[in-house]
Amino acid sequence: MSDAISLGTAKTKQQDISIISELMYQLKVRDVMTKNVHTVAPENTLREVQAVMRDNKISGVPVASDGKLVGIISLDDIIRALDFGEMDSTAEDKMTREVQTVGVGVSVIKAIDEMEQCGFGRLPVIDRDHYLVGIVTHWDVVKKLIFLLQDVVLKAEARERSLADATPAPANEVEGATYEFDVCKDDFENAGIAASTVKKQLQKMEVSPAVIRRIAVAMYETEINIIIHSLGGKMTAEIFPDRVRVISKDEGPGIANVEKALTEGFSTASAKAREMGFGAGMGLPNIKRCVDDFKIESAAGESTTITFGVKFNI
Ligand SMILES: Nc1ncnc2c1ncn2[C@@H]1O[C@H](COP(=O)(O)OP(=O)(O)O)[C@@H](O)[C@H]1O
Ligand SMILES: [Mg+2]
Repeated sequence: MSDAISLGTAKTKQQDISIISELMYQLKVRDVMTKNVHTVAPENTLREVQAVMRDNKISGVPVASDGKLVGIISLDDIIRALDFGEMDSTAEDKMTREVQTVGVGVSVIKAIDEMEQCGFGRLPVIDRDHYLVGIVTHWDVVKKLIFLLQDVVLKAEARERSLADATPAPANEVEGATYEFDVCKDDFENAGIAASTVKKQLQKMEVSPAVIRRIAVAMYETEINIIIHSLGGKMTAEIFPDRVRVISKDEGPGIANVEKALTEGFSTASAKAREMGFGAGMGLPNIKRCVDDFKIESAAGESTTITFGVKFNI
């Protein structure tokens, strides 16, 4: 996560990340913070504070008096109190009074820099009068950025699309083709070649980005499954003017229970595949969701054949 966070700092190449840094400068802490903050009162005992932490799965609780931030109790404070038998002391007695905070109107990029400097992953947010109004974490920022970037990408795609509508492609680029790909067992390095080759051809044909994305996801998941689950196989993509048909056939060992394999979350991925981030058990369900028609033929000890088609809606 820290890679994504440091995108906005001066250390990285600005021209590469201008959209993200622009968003991070525009966004204020109030746009991303969590407003429902769990707090305790100065007179609460550490036993009560501990219960708040446990119930809400948090590792630090701001101490507030009449809505104003007066201190913070961390998990370390609780552990120390347990050691010394001081769980009946009040929060006021044991809290840290010098709390690192961030202002509600500060830019997100500044808040992230402050979090990095002080080494805390979350900071209480205060307004001008020192009232506690929220809490902000790295994750809050990342979530919001992903949400906004999605919007940026969709708008860019729409723009491309309207430009494409205005200038029809030359006839020789509209023709389809048949592509064949050999996909080898455990060949993680070349994973995604089939999907990206077809994607490029469809982009030339000016198929809509949303349809291309569905095809690319379905092909990529199929490709990965051959790499991680089979002894190797072949994928064929036939591109027609109005649709794509993909056939994937591997050399086994097949799927004993196809219905189970299609269930969300079911996976027999090896420890090695999991280490590399595969094996969420969402591949086959995702393929089904992305395509217009889908067929899978397999049995234990046999090859697996997957056929799917996607129409372009033009
Ligand atoms: N080509 C294949 N050969 C053998 N088994 C497969 C193949 N594709 C999928 N499977 C089986 O179906 C399960 C579910 O696949 P999928 O939904 O893509 O999840 P994941 O790949 O994350 O395990 C796999 O764990 C595996 O047991
Ligand atoms: Mg898979």
